[in-house]
Amino acid sequence: MQKLFTGLQPSGSLHIGNYFGALKPAVEMCKAYNGMLMIADYHALTTLKDPRAMRENIMSVVKDYLAAGLDPTRTTIFKQSDVPEHTELSWIFQCLVTTAFLELSHAYKDKVAKGLEANAGLFAYPILMAADILLYDTDVVPVGEDQRQHLEYARETAAKFNNTFGQTFKEPKEMIIESVAVIPGTDGRKMSKSYNNIIPLFGSKDEIAKAVMSIVTDSKGKRPENVFAIHRAFKREEEIAPLYERSKSNYKAIKEALIEDIEALIGPMRAKRDSISDDDARRVLEGGGERARKRASKKMLDVREKIGVTI
Ligand code: TYM
Repeated sequence: MQKLFTGLQPSGSLHIGNYFGALKPAVEMCKAYNGMLMIADYHALTTLKDPRAMRENIMSVVKDYLAAGLDPTRTTIFKQSDVPEHTELSWIFQCLVTTAFLELSHAYKDKVAKGLEANAGLFAYPILMAADILLYDTDVVPVGEDQRQHLEYARETAAKFNNTFGQTFKEPKEMIIESVAVIPGTDGRKMSKSYNNIIPLFGSKDEIAKAVMSIVTDSKGKRPENVFAIHRAFKREEEIAPLYERSKSNYKAIKEALIEDIEALIGPMRAKRDSISDDDARRVLEGGGERARKRASKKMLDVREKIGVTI
């Protein structure tokens, strides 16, 4: 069975960009793959320094995973910090790659340009992500467009290790679905927590309605592209085209239709999410952490042997 791996940072509540770009494809593919879904808490630590928010966000993301339809008996759901082999392997990789290689990271440059502290963890971020993926001999990684370069880092890191110490790691492939690779936010830029332009995945109907009503529309007389670009994640273009034709510049009617279409998808998932307790979420993480650790520690036996630290 082919292996799937993906991760999301617990840096706040998930938005519909996370859902369509990564979570939904992962849920669908996990039916046919040996899947692992990770909560990237050590990645979030590069920017989040509030332990209370960290705890809340972790619990929240597990519930989001389950509500989105992941089956924890089939798919391993775990958090990064429960498997120390990730940080161990990341260190080994850091001793192989150059700082010049890491300086090419778009995500690092963007984050620093946005005013985030240029801490060493943020700089080494792609290498920890390479460790996440490579530890489990992953074949495919469903992600949004903004993670494409990180997959290149993972492949190059695998190749560098294999060339230096002998064949050990598989080179993984990204799975980016073009139509949902970059879900735009309410201002037309990529939907992102740091741009404050999100539609929350599990917000209340009112929160979702407020976000949709705030979508910037400036193409008077023509189709409101920013609304359409979000809408087509929920329904096929042919299905919504007549509405946009009919309502032309009645943006309010179009936005109300979008709110209804979001609610039709999210409503049942939200109800499911409300029925998941903190204890349920904890149990899932415990079981998943154990399974992940078993696989990771086995792989690390081979890695330690290869680099010559076993005697
Ligand atoms: P993160 O937490 O920023 O985002 C999680 C996933 O959501 C996708 N995404 C989007 N897709 C479409 N449109 C958008 N507007 C949008 N915004 C976010 C992201 O592409 C991502 O797939 N580095 C990762 C977390 C991570 C990871 C991993 C992922 C850590 N280790 C190993 C895969 C494999 C991140 O920051 O994702």
